[in-house]
Amino acid sequence: MTVCEYRAGLEGIPATQSSISFVDGQRGVLEYRGIGIEELAAKGNFLETAYLLIWGDLPTKEELELFEYEITYHRRLKYRIRDMMKCFPESGHPMDALQACAAALGLFYSRRALDDPTYIREAVVRLLAKIPTMVAAFQLMRKGNDPVQPRDDLGYAANFLYMLNEREPDPFPAHIFDVCLMLHAEHTINASTFSALVTASTLTDPYAVVASAVGTLAGPLHGGANEEVIVMLEEIGTVENVRPWLEKQLAQKGKIMGFGHRVYKVKDPRATILQQLAEQLFEKYGRDEYYDVAVELERAVEDNLGHKGIYPNVDFYSGLVYRKLGIPSDLFTPVFAISRTAGWLAHWKEQLNENRIFRPTQIYTGLHEATYVPIEHR
Ligand code: CMC
Repeated sequence: MTVCEYRAGLEGIPATQSSISFVDGQRGVLEYRGIGIEELAAKGNFLETAYLLIWGDLPTKEELELFEYEITYHRRLKYRIRDMMKCFPESGHPMDALQACAAALGLFYSRRALDDPTYIREAVVRLLAKIPTMVAAFQLMRKGNDPVQPRDDLGYAANFLYMLNEREPDPFPAHIFDVCLMLHAEHTINASTFSALVTASTLTDPYAVVASAVGTLAGPLHGGANEEVIVMLEEIGTVENVRPWLEKQLAQKGKIMGFGHRVYKVKDPRATILQQLAEQLFEKYGRDEYYDVAVELERAVEDNLGHKGIYPNVDFYSGLVYRKLGIPSDLFTPVFAISRTAGWLAHWKEQLNENRIFRPTQIYTGLHEATYVPIEHR
């Protein structure tokens, strides 16, 4: 075995082999199982995308109907899960609530049979079905309301918006939300997927795998950036203030949230689609007050940081879309998690097919043969 140099953040070091998705960061290409994200977003829907990612092929009509039926059937939460959620503090972040809920599913569905395809299927269906219900339930409960039961006559995206906003959405925003779910469903070996893989490699249960990934997604350098983008746009406030604000931020060596990516050195293709979706929504339902600020910020960042390959990533325009859909900003990252669960589960399943526990090495930089100093002499 050759000894490799240490690279912070494992930049450029392959940690796995995978046939699930592909990114070309120089050309701005993203493919799920070989299909371009633009084509999927234009022609597909979230559940068939999830099926494609997890089982490797687009489902036939019958396979998709069965999958949709199973997910619809499993959307409800056991009353004891709802009781558990009632004890969560309403001031807690919804990502923490979601992580606790995902882990708790392992308590309620404790059978673990990783070599049984029926078990794998049930776990996939339960997680995809229940995570949206848990996110919406926490939102209503923290406002002091009872959660809204899922509606079997509504599709995956429409049902989530219905449970969240307590009214049936128009088909157009429901479709836009479904596209958002497709765009966020998978993205090679990012931090949360890596976390899922490491956890999966110990052969623990899939609920622990997803809980671990949710905890990783929550950070502001990863999924949490979408929430921070709105805070940043509010702070900038006006188009006129964009360039002075940016100048100050760069002078302080601050990060511009929603920009930059380890892999993409051009505009993230998902950001391009999300910007188009935002514009479609604004045309129909009115412009977001911060959209012009966002567009000017994109221009200003390109002028200042384009030479470093810093362009909008997936988190830059998603928040503006979500705001228009009535989603509060601290739910942006849980919504990301709803969608990314598909990718995490695809990697979990792939890892199980050829598992070896992750156990990398380290370069030790500490002391050797140090002396133990008794406490009274320290
Ligand atoms: N604003 C200002 N400068 C930046 C930014 C940014 N958003 N991103 C990177 N840079 C600069 C950075 O200062 C560094 O400059 P220099 O070489 O002069 O020191 C150079 O670009 C390389 O940056 P890095 O932080 O070493 O790059 P990385 O690959 O380790 O980090 C990143 C990637 C996404 C964490 C980073 O770009 C960042 O912090 N972005 C802001 C947070 C964000 O939007 N996160 C969402 C990521 S995409 C979706 C997701 O993963 O959920």
